[in-house]
Amino acid sequence: MQRRLILFGILLIWMSYNEAIIFKFTNAVCESYNKSWVVINNCRLSAINRNKTVLNINITFLHPCNDIFVAVQLFKRANGYKPWLFKATVDACQFTKKSYNPTIILIYSLFKDFSNINHTCPYMGDQIIQGFYLRPEILRLPYPTGEYLLEMHWILDNKTTFITNEYFQFTENLL
Ligand SMILES: *[C@@H]1O[C@H](CO)[C@@H](O)[C@H](O)[C@H]1NC(C)=O
Ligand SMILES: *[C@@H]1O[C@H](CO)[C@@H](O)[C@H](O)[C@H]1NC(C)=O
Ligand SMILES: *[C@@H]1O[C@H](CO)[C@@H](O)[C@H](O)[C@H]1NC(C)=O
Ligand SMILES: *[C@@H]1O[C@H](CO)[C@@H](O)[C@H](O)[C@H]1NC(C)=O
Ligand SMILES: *[C@@H]1O[C@H](CO)[C@@H](O)[C@H](O)[C@H]1NC(C)=O
Repeated sequence: MQRRLILFGILLIWMSYNEAIIFKFTNAVCESYNKSWVVINNCRLSAINRNKTVLNINITFLHPCNDIFVAVQLFKRANGYKPWLFKATVDACQFTKKSYNPTIILIYSLFKDFSNINHTCPYMGDQIIQGFYLRPEILRLPYPTGEYLLEMHWILDNKTTFITNEYFQFTENLL
């Protein structure tokens, strides 16, 4: 009985803790360096309410691509954005066949339900992310309160062809 009460207490604390978290996008910047290959149709945030901002991305690949790497780096703001916690370059075609990098799996698990990109290479046509918002319950570790930038450089056929940079805010109000 006492154990159940303790578990229930922990659950309540956890739930109120989760509700006190604000984890949302603040800006999105996409750019194509080769517009005869990759066209950015849309890369925009839209505010649903005070705590929830969704990201919509629509990018067209005009030619099929079988050779895609993504260089991912996280920055935290402190007198400008400074590299923070991780940096990785991942073979996206390999990743969609068999996932191995736990950090990339985490990032991918945040948005895979909102996109049509969860298939194997080649990639061709419209790449869509629709209504994507950040859910604190998916993150296992609480981040320190702050402003972050997730840079993603997409390297197609060995050239940085486009970037998708997301800025977000993480705030825990532990009162
Ligand atoms: C936004 O978050 C604050 C603080 O966690 C909460 O009090 C408020 O109810 C939330 N508002 C909405 C619309 O979810
Ligand atoms: C742009 O992409 C096309 C299609 O893959 C390629 O043929 C061309 O060489 C690329 N241009 C540059 C400047 O990388
Ligand atoms: C993505 O953009 C293309 C080109 O503007 C458009 O034809 C397509 O309908 C868009 N897709 C979505 C899901 O908005
Ligand atoms: C991709 O998403 C669809 C729909 O959510 C799902 O049925 C499918 O299993 C997913 N495929 C992969 C490889 O994750
Ligand atoms: C990319 O670079 C690798 C290693 O340098 C090379 O084997 C491969 O052919 C290159 N791919 C393209 C499309 O240029």
